Amino acid sequence: MLQTAARPQRTSLHSPAPETHPGLASTRRRRRLEAPTPTPDKARPFLKWVGGKRQLLPELSPRIPADYGTYHEPFVGGGALFFHARPHRAVLSDANERLIRTYRGVRDAVEEVIDLLSSYPHDRAFFLEMRGIDIDARSDAEVAAWFIYLNRTGFNGLYRVNRSNVYNVPFGDYTSPVICDAENLRACAEALRATTLRCESFEKVLDRARPGDFVYFDPPYVPLSASSNFTSYTRGGFGMTEHERLRDVAWKLKARGVHVLLSNSSAPEVHALYGERFELASVGAARAVNCKASGRGKVQELIIR
Ligand SMILES: C[S@@+](CC[C@H](N)C(=O)[O-])C[C@H]1O[C@@H](n2cnc3c(N)ncnc32)[C@H](O)[C@@H]1O
Repeated sequence: MLQTAARPQRTSLHSPAPETHPGLASTRRRRRLEAPTPTPDKARPFLKWVGGKRQLLPELSPRIPADYGTYHEPFVGGGALFFHARPHRAVLSDANERLIRTYRGVRDAVEEVIDLLSSYPHDRAFFLEMRGIDIDARSDAEVAAWFIYLNRTGFNGLYRVNRSNVYNVPFGDYTSPVICDAENLRACAEALRATTLRCESFEKVLDRARPGDFVYFDPPYVPLSASSNFTSYTRGGFGMTEHERLRDVAWKLKARGVHVLLSNSSAPEVHALYGERFELASVGAARAVNCKASGRGKVQELIIR
């Protein structure tokens, strides 16, 4: 449990901010007044996300349709393509509820998230206390600050939970991680303003995507080898059955006149799934999923339409 009495300089998630920080309310008011005009053009993902698509943007960007209705991203993760594309209307979803609540916290209460994050110190003991908090009963802003703090200070920005949904990534031991990038968080809040955020599985996109909309699917990849398998963003995992269901969803959307873009690994199973009815492009992407140096470097990935 976080002990506020023992750590008066920190904001505890267990106590309302004004009691522990008498000056916080006025600081918050001042920050709001002084907040620079948000610059959504500069928004970039506020989370480090395994499988994040920043390195693939040069390949994905030219494949964004010139004109489309609503943007849908059903495996949003860190949202690299969303922040790059800056659509007017978007539905972002993911099966990870804490992730979606984090987006809501940033969109709806960014100054509170910034205040909380600014008060969190970078040290192992505090990290371990944060890890153990029962965060799901808290507000979206508290979930967002918790998620971003652990993402910035945990090993490799991993998000991994055990069977009881307890976050169990070790401390990252970085020299001086950027825990609170206030300017970018404000820009992200602005970019998220007109988005609908949903915690749900990817199939739900079938209920709402209309002809002329654009759907970008970036699922957990089919592993290239048993040792490169990372599918722990959610408790359920993502196996070949889910990949087949995803292919069928993508096909139904295409048949409806929706613009569909997918990314996946270049594993033989992906060629087998999509080779017949979709257009496949093989592209090189810099990847660092593996913590060993030998696991980094350029790998071939597939962009599917
Ligand atoms: C490869 S990551 C997406 C990365 C993202 N495109 C980015 O740039 O950061 C895959 C995401 O799929 C989510 N996910 C896993 N299973 C899912 C499911 N059945 N439905 C929806 N999302 C799921 C995970 O929580 C994870 O955020």
